[in-house]
Amino acid sequence: MKELMLDPNLSRAPVRKAGRPAEELRQEYGLETIIGLSGNENPLGPSPLAVEAMREALPSVNRYPGVCETELRTKIAMRMGPGFDEENVIVANGSSDILRLICQAFLFDGGESVVCTATFPLYRLFTEMFGGEAVLVDAKDYAYDLPAMVEEIGEETRLFFVCNPNNPTGTVLTQQQVDDFMKQVPNRVVVVFDEAYCEYVEDEKYADTRKYVEEGRNVVIIRTFSKLYGLGGLRVGYGVGEKELVEYLWRALSAFHVGALNLIGAAASLDDDEHILRSREHNSKEKQFLYEQFKKLGVRYLPSQCNFVLLVELGHDVQALWESLVRHGLVVTPARAFGVPDAIRISLGTREENERLVEALQQVLAELPEA
Ligand SMILES: Cc1ncc(COP(=O)(O)O)c(C=O)c1O
Repeated sequence: MKELMLDPNLSRAPVRKAGRPAEELRQEYGLETIIGLSGNENPLGPSPLAVEAMREALPSVNRYPGVCETELRTKIAMRMGPGFDEENVIVANGSSDILRLICQAFLFDGGESVVCTATFPLYRLFTEMFGGEAVLVDAKDYAYDLPAMVEEIGEETRLFFVCNPNNPTGTVLTQQQVDDFMKQVPNRVVVVFDEAYCEYVEDEKYADTRKYVEEGRNVVIIRTFSKLYGLGGLRVGYGVGEKELVEYLWRALSAFHVGALNLIGAAASLDDDEHILRSREHNSKEKQFLYEQFKKLGVRYLPSQCNFVLLVELGHDVQALWESLVRHGLVVTPARAFGVPDAIRISLGTREENERLVEALQQVLAELPEA
């Protein structure tokens, strides 16, 4: 390696391996079973329609993906509304991949992104990986502070990331907040609305960003099949934007970028109304269940519009708390990597898993010394 010419931005980037797999932790801690509540996955499993469609398509995987790619984009466009068609949609390997394409496409020779400190870490990571600089702005009361972020738009700003609803806080920005914000954003800045959890939102004031695309603004809406649709393992996500902008992003894609089965599974999941409804209802019910339990335990949580809940101001060392929960057979996410050091994020599981979590949390909180 010493003699090789390396990209300094890439050399500085962390090696991103998937979080330690639950199975590895299970073996290390000598546990019989382990429950993973760290990936914000759908605990009810994949859409059965998706599984069936992929099974049917299996004998044809000798062929490169063909029309299934356009079919998925057309379906997504139809669900976005009458003002959209497949040319407004780009599909890639998870929405993470779309984030990466955007950073590659706009930060090719530097420039800045405006990024909240308490949010999904990939905005900063990809910005820096492609040679850009992330201008960081603190959250206010655990939520995006758009007025403060807008102040940071300068000559060098090219990207502005908005995670709505936000991971890890579960908070949403309202239509009014986003409209006020968009009035102040110059058109030379691309606003990225990451809406990975939008299908779970219950708050009626939640901002609908599709109109900005219809108005021809420079925005990209990012969504995924990894959450509500229960297809995290397939790695399919998409971006929606004005056609020319989408075409420009397309240039950074390799040919046959997403596998045929993945595309077919994702498309089928969009039609699975029963699975969608069941998943939403389950999430809503389990959230209420956990809120009640957290109140009983005297733990502060942030009301969430997502499929996870953030516990904050824990008054205990978060790393110790995390490890104790692992010893009780539960994997959750310390939110430090998401910019909230005194918090843990818990993905909602099945009722049984959530009960196990509450039991374990009760014991762990009683055992651990105050920080
Ligand atoms: C806010 C947000 N955006 C994007 C992603 C990436 O999801 P995927 O690459 O699975 O589509 C995640 C995953 O957790 C997320 O929380």
